[in-house]
Amino acid sequence: MDNNNAINLSNITKTYNLYNSHTDRVKETFHPLRKKYNHPFNALENVALSVRKGSSIGIIGRNGSGKSTLLQIICGILKPTAGTVEVIGRISALLELGAGFNPDFTGVENVYLSASILGIGQKETEKKFEEIVEFAEIGEFINQPVKTYSSGMYIRLAFAIAVNMKPEILVVDEALAVGDIFFQQKCIQHMQQLMQNCTKIIATHDMQAVANLCERILVLDQGKVIFEGSPLKGIEYYTKIMHNKRFKKSCEFEPGINKVNSIDILEENDWVDVSEDSRAGACEIIIEKLKITSKECVPINIVKADDYIIIHLIVNSLLPKEDVIFGYLIKDRVGNAVFGENTIECPTGAISIQKGRYRVQFGFKWPEVYPEKYTITVGIGEGNHPSNHTIQCWAHNLLAVSAISPNRFIHAMFNNPITHMTINPVR
Ligand SMILES: Nc1ncnc2c1ncn2[C@@H]1O[C@H](COP(=O)(O)OP(=O)(O)OP(=O)(O)O)[C@@H](O)[C@H]1O
Ligand SMILES: [Mg+2]
Repeated sequence: MDNNNAINLSNITKTYNLYNSHTDRVKETFHPLRKKYNHPFNALENVALSVRKGSSIGIIGRNGSGKSTLLQIICGILKPTAGTVEVIGRISALLELGAGFNPDFTGVENVYLSASILGIGQKETEKKFEEIVEFAEIGEFINQPVKTYSSGMYIRLAFAIAVNMKPEILVVDEALAVGDIFFQQKCIQHMQQLMQNCTKIIATHDMQAVANLCERILVLDQGKVIFEGSPLKGIEYYTKIMHNKRFKKSCEFEPGINKVNSIDILEENDWVDVSEDSRAGACEIIIEKLKITSKECVPINIVKADDYIIIHLIVNSLLPKEDVIFGYLIKDRVGNAVFGENTIECPTGAISIQKGRYRVQFGFKWPEVYPEKYTITVGIGEGNHPSNHTIQCWAHNLLAVSAISPNRFIHAMFNNPITHMTINPVR
């Protein structure tokens, strides 16, 4: 293996024998001629991966794509059916919950147990003990059996042990998502600042973590590597394949309002139906369906600053109407309205429509906001005033997007630049 590599996997395949039913399994066990009732299933197929020492790689992919299987093979917990695994360096692993700890032991005992599994002696563990307890921030619970811990406390302790034992390779499977936001930030900062020489392999659905932490990304799909490259390209690729599976026909971005016939609409995928009970307002004009796409009309669920996004609506006006306006509101995880606008301020202004069904599309540039999940509320109003108008229809929180901010740290909801500074000595 190349001396600069910490991990080398070649042609890794992991095959499971699956049975359609429990009866088939029993039949196979007792069949006099050993007839097979199972069929092989490849959780991983021909996966190759080289990881340079000190680099960090993210593994993304849908549920069941093989991420955890791959990490378990790297850690030596699972044996591949075929292929070779070479790993150089001491591994600390944070695999799925439950891995590693003895539930009847206290936190303290588990620190020593984990250390001994990692090949770290009692003396060295004693030296690191204070640091671990401080990092975990679980207070006196450190003396309680870990079976009494919440899942957040459990992962705090596991993470504190894993990162403070100064591993050469750190393997993290989704664990970051369990702690609260402050602990997640602390872990990410710790990994970025104090673990630069450690090789990191992180499987996650958290695109912001991947964009922040990883130099390279592997996208897995049905056990195969379908992309390897830079994080941003990887995230883009992943988003596309997630949708392309369901997305057949590309629509055009046609500014303005176009009357549609329902057969056309049905040919397009990814519409979210707005049910009667999720609508509010006078409802003489109603929102029937909606979706959010990129400028190329590809459905999206991940956005970054300056991406142009389009909200598509199918609306049904039950009466002819004058002064119709459309708008959107983006809310954060806890429901704060972060930004929004309506079409009064755009060149078309308020418009008149006849009775009938229309397709409405409006777009805007995504601003530089804190990376997290946002929901989208859309509305139709009647009137010429930005705030004083009749609400015809609101559709609340039916769409969601995850914002990422790979190139810039966002300090609060958004950044506001400092434009002036002086410093003078005083006596
Ligand atoms: N012991 C097993 N026996 C049979 N099939 C298994 C076994 N372990 C995993 N699989 C299958 O292998 C595939 C890959 O599973 P894996 O847990 O690696 O996916 P994952 O990418 O980690 O998914 P997630 O995002 O949900 O964590 C899945 O289809 C899973 O059902
Ligand atoms: Mg998994």
